[in-house]
Amino acid sequence: MLEDSFGRKHTYLRISLTERCNLRCNYCMPADGIPLSPKSHLMNADEIYSIASTFVKAGVTKIRLTGGEPLVRKDARDILKKLASLPVELAISTNAVTTDRHIEDFKKLGIQNINISLDTLIPERFKQITRRDYFEKVYSNIFQLLEHGFNVKINCVLMKGVNDDEIIDFIKLSEKHLLHIRFIEFMPFDGNRWNMSKLVSQQAILNCVENVFEREAIKRIADRPNDTSRNYQIKGYKGTFAIISTVTNPFCDSCNRIRLTANGQIKNCLFSANETDLLSTLRGGESITPLIEKAIQGKFKSRGGMDTLEKFKDPAQHGQNRSMIAIGG
Ligand code: 5AD
Ligand code: SF4
Repeated sequence: MLEDSFGRKHTYLRISLTERCNLRCNYCMPADGIPLSPKSHLMNADEIYSIASTFVKAGVTKIRLTGGEPLVRKDARDILKKLASLPVELAISTNAVTTDRHIEDFKKLGIQNINISLDTLIPERFKQITRRDYFEKVYSNIFQLLEHGFNVKINCVLMKGVNDDEIIDFIKLSEKHLLHIRFIEFMPFDGNRWNMSKLVSQQAILNCVENVFEREAIKRIADRPNDTSRNYQIKGYKGTFAIISTVTNPFCDSCNRIRLTANGQIKNCLFSANETDLLSTLRGGESITPLIEKAIQGKFKSRGGMDTLEKFKDPAQHGQNRSMIAIGG
């Protein structure tokens, strides 16, 4: 069992397949993009499988594929197939630009949980946020996934003055559709010009909801053991909504997550500046298990050591971390 010094058991591995993306969300990557790792520094399909197997032997029961955009990798299908042969729950986070090409694979491989990034329901705004014109494609792909019976969650990063006027419209999408909307507080990463004044807090989101719906109509749903989100449902609605409040109300106490970047480094936290290079060791033919155990042991109690809001707000603390595009969410 991968247990850290605070007794947290790490059963959930998030693997980033690539640093590339077919969108350019301005909160995710710096305006000029990021220097990409040379291909030879990225894990190939066999290496991903090998590292994932080691984690599964050490107690991991859930793997989520992220990116960049995981489906831009030409060998994405091959990787999905390999990982589906492991005894884990396999899930994926995608921007849904190309999910229509993968429906049958997802079904065959038992990939049931699909998280989709969508920050606006207004096509023109989608273009501004992502610097690409794919709203219609993404929107229709979401409903295609629903029709095929997938469990679809929508991740919506809220930013003041950008999309915070759409909270209610997003929630209303869950009235007739079995969709799970998750509002994510905007988080600071290298190069994303974060600042507290752009943040839409958990409290602000709840205030907005309470302004529109009767208090009795807003139901708090019980969270599952390692949920990062606090979950709600409007009475009579098919779907749900949730808030992921990493900034104003973090959920580190129940963290069971460990991340593997596309170039084979483990991050023991989304906000950890330290990384552990598994890929070089694997290529050198040595066991990676001791490295994994050591990385877990070095995990901080909260947000890579930024345990107070003051520390978290300090931009100097984030320069050591990667951009989100190179971590994978
Ligand atoms: N703050 C919050 N969420 C972010 N994501 C990317 N960058 C940020 C950020 N700065 C989210 C995306 C996607 C997931 C992988 O991470 O919206 O849903
Ligand atoms: Fe691509 Fe997701 Fe980053 Fe947007 S948030 S640029 S979709 S990786």
